[in-house]
Amino acid sequence: MFVVVGVTGGIAAYKSVHLVRLLVKEGHEVHVVPTADALRFVGLPTWEAISRNPVTTSVHEDVARVRHVALGQSADLVIVAPATANTLAKMAAGLADDLLGTTLLATMAPVVVAPAMHTEMWRHPATVHNIATLRERGVITVGPDDGALTGGDSGPGRMSEPEQIVAEALAATGARSADLTGVRAVVSAGGTREPIDPVRFIGNRSSGKQGIAVALAAADRDADVLLIAAHVDEGVLSEASAHPRVEVVRAGTAAELAAAVGDAAAGADVVVMAAAVADYRVAEVSDAKLSKDAAAGPGITLHLVENDDILAGLVQSRRDGQIVVGFAAETPQDGETLLDRGRRKAARKGADLLAVNQVGWAQGFEADRNEVTLLDASGEVVATVDGTKRAVADAIWDAVRGIRSRNK
Ligand code: CTP
Repeated sequence: MFVVVGVTGGIAAYKSVHLVRLLVKEGHEVHVVPTADALRFVGLPTWEAISRNPVTTSVHEDVARVRHVALGQSADLVIVAPATANTLAKMAAGLADDLLGTTLLATMAPVVVAPAMHTEMWRHPATVHNIATLRERGVITVGPDDGALTGGDSGPGRMSEPEQIVAEALAATGARSADLTGVRAVVSAGGTREPIDPVRFIGNRSSGKQGIAVALAAADRDADVLLIAAHVDEGVLSEASAHPRVEVVRAGTAAELAAAVGDAAAGADVVVMAAAVADYRVAEVSDAKLSKDAAAGPGITLHLVENDDILAGLVQSRRDGQIVVGFAAETPQDGETLLDRGRRKAARKGADLLAVNQVGWAQGFEADRNEVTLLDASGEVVATVDGTKRAVADAIWDAVRGIRSRNK
């Protein structure tokens, strides 16, 4: 695909170097059109080296080939990242006083903007109005995210992560929309709950957001998806239930999840175990609510027994060509790095792909973002993603596609 990346004058321009790299790595022909201001943040040689194409900001170069409209005409997709408040205003007004402006006016391709600015500028009525105008014209906006801004401020205004921008931009062109046609995927999501008695359970903090994002990404890319949902955020689940390519079944305990996954795996091309499965269950579930009156002393002891490892079982019974993906939630300790622990788990579980993420009191669970390293069966890093759970999900499916094409 012929992709034009407009870069405007904001500090987030440095993140767009990675964005261009991602597009080039995916095999796209990328042409960077920086504004003059953007070049004060990242220089021209960097853009040329990373995009592997000549770069200019001027409409007066390459005039014979009418470069000022040629780029826009050739583009299948235009991404402006970062898009400053000034550029958004120029776009809304249709100004064309530089190569990016003429390119934007000359293109019929989908235009995706990733705004980046201070919160006050983002909330200013002029910017709000310009964004509304651009959206009305069909321009797609990605972000801005809420987070740390330059100078110690924080709030909405931070440019979205390159992975997310690329994922949403490619989805806008339909480039990724049907690359999993015919694939039957089973995805487990959420946290299991192991009953203690009729009112209490042992659970975990999983919201199911990552697993549901994996299911939705596959369905959007045309796979047939069975989502096996344990305890999840019901609002997020309703989005998946509404998707025509997603069937949802529910599972409460680890044993129920194991049974549901076991049944479904036989007919699946890919199984993704994103659920947070309880490693232990209570040996004897009480039919009556446990009462303090019955306790012998100041405390009670629950006897726990180990649950089957569903992922390991799937790997053992894997059919030829079937792909099994696991997750690893880690809290690195004792001098071991996240990657060390991930590699140990990859070796132990034997999955084709393991998505390793660090979790903690304020990390991983319930959040909308995730930071994940994808390891293959031999523990090699296939990709690292720091972005939305959807961006992580798309990276997992990209990696699955890679394995499928190597298996063929
Ligand atoms: N998993 C599973 N069955 C279990 C426990 C975990 O299928 N009984 C799967 C999870 O769905 C995930 C992967 O195994 O894909 C890793 O889960 P994680 O909780 O990180 O690891 P554990 O196997 O529980 O190992 P540990 O508790 O030692 O980290």
